[in-house]
Amino acid sequence: MNFAPAIEIRTAVCDDAGAVAGCLAAAFASYKTAYSPSAFADTVASEQGVRLRIQQAHVLVAITCGNVVGTISARIRGNHGHLRGMAVLPEFRGTGLAADLLTAIETWLRARGCAEVTLDTTEPLMAAMRFYENHGYHRSGKIADFFGMPLIEYVKPLR
Ligand SMILES: CC(C)(COP(=O)(O)OP(=O)(O)OC[C@H]1O[C@@H](n2cnc3c(N)ncnc32)[C@H](O)[C@@H]1OP(=O)(O)O)[C@@H](O)C(=O)NCCC(=O)NCCS
Repeated sequence: MNFAPAIEIRTAVCDDAGAVAGCLAAAFASYKTAYSPSAFADTVASEQGVRLRIQQAHVLVAITCGNVVGTISARIRGNHGHLRGMAVLPEFRGTGLAADLLTAIETWLRARGCAEVTLDTTEPLMAAMRFYENHGYHRSGKIADFFGMPLIEYVKPLR
């Protein structure tokens, strides 16, 4: 029998900002040495940065026992969605939670008419690249500079 507590996925509110920042910090902690300092600071948003993101984007949180254990966000431009800030706590990796968050945000984008979704990742995030490829994303070929690190764009059609 499985007694794991239920996980709720819901839209973040401003009061979640500190917990979302904590989740990002824990999820990315092991990558810090592989990042340039500015790239890491931009990736692991502060509480203030997350509060701004909650106001400007659609941010989802996964909650269990009152704690934020996962998050993802999306913005829409025209019929194009862009994802940022995907993270689950290390102890929730390999549980299917990341896939549930991705499905939830893609459903939200589809319902708003988005035809495709993009996201950016970096070379150290091997687990994330495998995760996205397993979920229908492929490299667009676009590589930009992200504070001295290659920023690799992934894309997925939504229809
Ligand atoms: C990217 C991230 C959200 C992906 O979440 P994840 O849980 O690690 O990814 P997966 O769902 O693919 O799970 C990892 C493994 O568990 C397996 N798994 C997934 N759901 C499972 C389930 N319900 N039961 C058993 N195994 C499962 C997967 O098949 C995968 O195996 P693989 O590594 O052999 O391919 C997570 O690794 C993370 O937070 N990383 C740090 C932050 C980050 O990189 N963010 C992305 C920024 S672009």
